[in-house]
Amino acid sequence: MKWVQSDDGSYTAYSPEYNEHYHSTKDGALNESLKKHIEPAFTLHKGKDHLRIIDICFGLGFNTLLSLYYRGTYCPDITLEIYSPELNGDLIASLVDFPYPDIFEPYRNVINDIVTLGGYEDERTQITVDIIDARVAMRQLEGEWDVCYQDAFSPQTNPLLWTKEYFGDISRLMGGDGVVTTYSTALATRLALYENGFNVYLNRGEGYRNATIASRRELIEYEKVDMEHKIACNPEAKSLRDKSLGL
Ligand SMILES: C[S@@+](CC[C@H](N)C(=O)[O-])C[C@H]1O[C@@H](n2cnc3c(N)ncnc32)[C@H](O)[C@@H]1O
Repeated sequence: MKWVQSDDGSYTAYSPEYNEHYHSTKDGALNESLKKHIEPAFTLHKGKDHLRIIDICFGLGFNTLLSLYYRGTYCPDITLEIYSPELNGDLIASLVDFPYPDIFEPYRNVINDIVTLGGYEDERTQITVDIIDARVAMRQLEGEWDVCYQDAFSPQTNPLLWTKEYFGDISRLMGGDGVVTTYSTALATRLALYENGFNVYLNRGEGYRNATIASRRELIEYEKVDMEHKIACNPEAKSLRDKSLGL
């Protein structure tokens, strides 16, 4: 794994195995995590006193760490429960040396506990990082969750984490007002969400590329994607399927 400085100054990494960066180097690792995942998730759940978050996949941990920072800065009374599957145990072990942005410095002990204990706990926070295939983890996980940060490698390189069946498991885990955030704007991704009962929204703003938010509840804060129109205009488009991937 190679560390790479992204355009907002924060470091991300490059995976030779997937031939992909862990974050958009153009949007910036920290900026991308904030704009595509953390801000929408916390804003859409404003007023709640407890948030249950699924963080797919832990990777360098930006989404989990930035959730802690955001909570600490804007809504310190919220308690957080985060569950994050990650396949690569060696990557997790290497995070003690990762050059994180300064704002993560107060969370060094969190990283250290995740590396050594597989999680972190205090009176307002519970984090579990499981070394497991996210697809398997989502089949096994139970309960009702408020947020899913869908942040796997791209549908091209890691298609199993973008299928209709996979999002069926995510749908089962999301409460009625649950929110899925993702950087992917691929029609196949949006179809897989739509086919599982999600409304699909465009997350667009200054300083980052378009992204997607999905929720079963109506969101007035975001522009709804007219999926029936998209389907009519792209009759050949299909969601990715586990079966078509030979499983
Ligand atoms: C785009 S990176 C995640 C970035 C991360 N959210 C962050 O903030 O740093 C994708 C991660 O998915 C992991 N991964 C790949 N396939 C997986 C699978 N089937 N289950 C769980 N993790 C997987 C990779 O090891 C990598 O760490």
